[in-house]
Amino acid sequence: MSELPIARWAEDFTPLVCEARKVSMLREEALALLAKLAAYSNGPVIEIGSYVGGSTIALASETRQKIFSIEPGGSNAQHEHLPTTDITADARANLARCGLLDRVDMVVAGFQDAATHAYLRRHIGIGGAGMLFVDTDPGTELALQSYIQYLRPDGFVIIDDYKSDEARDKSALLATFVDDLIRQDALETFGVYGWGTWFGRLRPGGIAKIERVRGTNPFAPLGGFKYWAHIGHPDRDDTTSGVEPIALYEDGRPLGPARATPEAIETIGLGRYAHIGRFLVMSASDNSDPRTNGRAYHIEFEGGYESISFVGPRSTDLLGRIRSFLRR
Ligand SMILES: C[S@@+](CC[C@H](N)C(=O)[O-])C[C@H]1O[C@@H](n2cnc3c(N)ncnc32)[C@H](O)[C@@H]1O
Repeated sequence: MSELPIARWAEDFTPLVCEARKVSMLREEALALLAKLAAYSNGPVIEIGSYVGGSTIALASETRQKIFSIEPGGSNAQHEHLPTTDITADARANLARCGLLDRVDMVVAGFQDAATHAYLRRHIGIGGAGMLFVDTDPGTELALQSYIQYLRPDGFVIIDDYKSDEARDKSALLATFVDDLIRQDALETFGVYGWGTWFGRLRPGGIAKIERVRGTNPFAPLGGFKYWAHIGHPDRDDTTSGVEPIALYEDGRPLGPARATPEAIETIGLGRYAHIGRFLVMSASDNSDPRTNGRAYHIEFEGGYESISFVGPRSTDLLGRIRSFLRR
């Protein structure tokens, strides 16, 4: 158990936490705890997925540490509560309104971009950060595994969507991943607050265990040669005309045909895939199981979305594979 007064902190709704809530997808309790843990952080704070800056306001509200906020930006005009045509501009305006802009280094890029890693290495260094908050959609597991190297050995770790009524599919996979790390004694749990945000910190030796862990692979079987993975935004759907086609690669080679029917993917497979709502439905090139074939899968979106990479769990050199992807 933590010696920190976590439960009490989670109820301290300061004026800036209330401001943060107005522009955040997180609930007050989670924002209040982000604020307090950032204040206790022993080094800079890394945030992955800030959207319009709600969680960033909370993180910056009480700490003297710099917040490195990684967010590629773009638009999300259809969002039910927080529509925006320019994520970065809105985040900047929200931080400025709260007087916090100068405490935040806004890194306008995807977490998997090589330039983002180069920037963090230069400004934080391996093992220099005190806290890592991951709230990206999609790619949480991969973000955690590739950014844990920047944390101090006793750093705080916060992972959103550990539980979620709205994103059950994503949270089920993520909870399995996090629970596995807890079982391996890589992470210590402080608690789950708000709508399902997991709070905790690294255990001794945790970084190496997280980097080594098997299980970043998000695929689940759907019968026959067909597997699915949650890949996020519902507007990335190539089953409706003219919207956001994607390209899927296996170990760097393009798979296809795209837009295959679910039946063809299931019974013929051989690399056929389709993008249906929040899901990628796919088959491996040789109809092997993408959860165990050890291959790396890479998804590219058109229309300004960042691409994502999934790495097969059989790989014993997970970081090496992620790095080789980043070098491409
Ligand atoms: C759930 S939202 C974040 C919510 C925010 N933390 C808040 O307090 O409201 C997820 C964010 O992850 C961002 N995102 C998507 N892909 C990303 C990537 N590759 N790197 C960093 N952020 C990414 C999305 O643009 C989106 O703004």
